[in-house]
Amino acid sequence: MKHLFSLGVAAMLAAGVPGAAKADTAGDVQQQCGTCHALTHDYATLGIQERAERKAPPLDFAGNKFQRAWLVSWLQNPTRIRPAGVFPPAHVKDGPNGDVVDAASLAEHPAVPAAQADAMADYLMTLKPFDDLIKAETYQPGTIAKSMGKMNFGKFKGCDACHQDAPNSGGVSGPELYTAWIRLQPAFISAYIANPLAWDPHTLMPKGDIKADAVHKLADYLKVIGEKQP
Ligand code: HEC
Ligand code: HEC
Repeated sequence: MKHLFSLGVAAMLAAGVPGAAKADTAGDVQQQCGTCHALTHDYATLGIQERAERKAPPLDFAGNKFQRAWLVSWLQNPTRIRPAGVFPPAHVKDGPNGDVVDAASLAEHPAVPAAQADAMADYLMTLKPFDDLIKAETYQPGTIAKSMGKMNFGKFKGCDACHQDAPNSGGVSGPELYTAWIRLQPAFISAYIANPLAWDPHTLMPKGDIKADAVHKLADYLKVIGEKQP
């Protein structure tokens, strides 16, 4: 009897008990990712020093931010997003022509096996504390001439001081933005540009006083440069 019972449990586990599987993934993420990434918004109540000590970008609002398909593939094959890491002052040195990224000081991101990447992405997509910010968004993706968008991103709004809109073109203290459209949800892109502090009180991105339609044009430029060509 005892033997049969344990077989039954084993079969149930193999078939996957939905609740249990989800709890396990939450535990795996906590254990394998929580050492570097915040998974709750508690950092918002800490002092600004928290930002300098941060090992990784917060994941507590992952479900309001990322494209699930991108998460699944990136977790299996992670590439660098922030050219100078999470805290650029720690990875940038003076060079004869300005700042130089000390790439050797940047660690590779751990990769996750395919099956786990899928489960972890499912779990991360449930972390949605900012549904209200997304719901308040009025952005409807549109288009803009690339040259106009570039001028806006550079000369007019100064985004290129911190962000790259093409490989090796632009600043290094923020995430690369020529991949933003495949990584991020359109409503997040717009809401974050409009008010980065609403997402993260310790963000290093300044809140520019940009009108909604100008924010939408910037988002459209990220679409134009980042959309996969059919
Ligand atoms: C040793 C620390 C460390 C561990 C452990 C770690 N990460 Fe990361 N993670 C980072 C750093 C640093 C970055 C920023 C990389 C970049 O921008 O180039 C990052 C970036 C990310 C991003 C992109 C975030 C964004 O806002 O652009 C995701 C998603 C992510 N990690 C998920 C995970 C998951 C899931 C795990 C657990 C399986 C994990 N990470 C484990 C350090 C870590
Ligand atoms: C002073 C540097 C700076 C400027 C100027 C700046 N940003 Fe940022 N931006 C950042 C940093 C740094 C982050 C990542 C958040 C962090 O690390 O605190 C970020 C994040 C973002 C994100 C989210 C990307 C992601 O992968 O998480 C978007 C979208 C963005 N910025 C767009 C813009 C646009 C558009 C402009 C121009 C209006 C702009 N930024 C100006 C530094 C800057």
